[in-house]
Amino acid sequence: MEKLLIKGGNPLSGRIECSGAKNAALPMIASTILCEEEVILKNLPYLQDITTMFELLGSMGADIILNENMDFTITSKNLQDIEARYELVKTMRASILVLGPLVAKYGKARIALPGGCAIGSRPVNYHLDSLKQMGAEIVLKNGYIEASASRLKGANIKFDGITVTGTENIMMAATLAAGKTTLTNVAKEPEIIDLAEMLNSMGAKIDGAGSDQITITGVESLNGTKYEIPADRIEAGTYLAAAAVTKGEITIEGINPNRLMKVIEKLNSTGAEINLGIDSISINMKKDVPNPVDITTAPFPEFPTDMQAQFSVINAISSGTANIYETVFENRFMHILELNRMGCNIAVEGNRAIIKGVRNLYGAEVMATDLRASASLILAGLCAKGETVVDRIYHIDRGYERIEEKLNYLGADIVRLPS
Ligand code: EPU
Repeated sequence: MEKLLIKGGNPLSGRIECSGAKNAALPMIASTILCEEEVILKNLPYLQDITTMFELLGSMGADIILNENMDFTITSKNLQDIEARYELVKTMRASILVLGPLVAKYGKARIALPGGCAIGSRPVNYHLDSLKQMGAEIVLKNGYIEASASRLKGANIKFDGITVTGTENIMMAATLAAGKTTLTNVAKEPEIIDLAEMLNSMGAKIDGAGSDQITITGVESLNGTKYEIPADRIEAGTYLAAAAVTKGEITIEGINPNRLMKVIEKLNSTGAEINLGIDSISINMKKDVPNPVDITTAPFPEFPTDMQAQFSVINAISSGTANIYETVFENRFMHILELNRMGCNIAVEGNRAIIKGVRNLYGAEVMATDLRASASLILAGLCAKGETVVDRIYHIDRGYERIEEKLNYLGADIVRLPS
């Protein structure tokens, strides 16, 4: 298994371009199932999760071509094996995103039931209950979700809890349903708005994405489109946090700051100077030691759970004590034990991490447990004294494009060790 060797202590400086957003791209690739024409996706990030989604569509018979401009052309016509096998689902839970489009277009789907994962139990009951309300029959058998419907019917659906991929799945399903679907208590993440815009460019009729209620008027068919994946707000936030822990001064280009205002607000509270452009964010960490910042994660527009682990590291080297409350996932503190092995002073009580700032972190051999946990270990390695080796970095390759290349470009010293 490959590892990253990080020599800590270099302040980051310079400018980098943000990559396309993984969590916008995944539902967009799934949405190609809804139409028979070509869909061209530009600015797809080169990530393991994107490859897994292509593998999934490819296994059902979709045509996926990479052209000379590095754009992907996907034609999901006449799919055959309407199934997401366990081998793929267990490596990427977002495989569930094909459920809604498959039932809407082909009237059937067989998807391995995602189990628990490193950040919690993560059930998919909201996805399934909503499809049932639209007339689908759902049976759980041999570890698989078996869904069928002649044509989905529009319905008034209120989600019991806010779910990002659940909102996306049902929004996609409703585009081809008979009649009008109203979704309430939906997720308002920027990726929901991106997906709605893409679907509307395919001829869907979706209103209200980004608000608490989304209305979808079903149409008979959707057409092809060309769509550019927007920049990854979590990638941008992670590099800004990396600058904050290394007393760095960097600019991230290609990112709309409105997508991460809560993160920017909290970075400001650490004592960093932030400058916003129309599509760029600059940070200058002027303070020697960051101020501690309390954080409570919650659905957008609140502080994203996907930035919680990175802010654990900022707080770990801060001048005081901070509390982080994780309210989205039940078990997203797996990185804390590894961070403590590097000298952090963090206690976990239920969904609260109490972080006491220390003067120095020290390099160690640590193990990544999930994508954002890996990011926090890399950040800790960047500001630690000595060498850090991060193991199991396949987690990081799922969601950060060329991370060591980008960080090294900014002045870090990271080497990928072969397995
Ligand atoms: N939940 C249920 N039932 C459901 C669906 C969700 O109880 O049917 C619960 C979950 O267990 C969790 C909460 O609701 O406690 C929120 O989960 P959500 O469904 O919103 O998460 P998701 O859609 O599976 C997406 C991102 C995650 C991100 C979360 C929260 C994608 C592909 N994944 O997951 O991204 O953390 O929203 O913002 O969009 C990551 O990129 O590292 C990542 C984990």
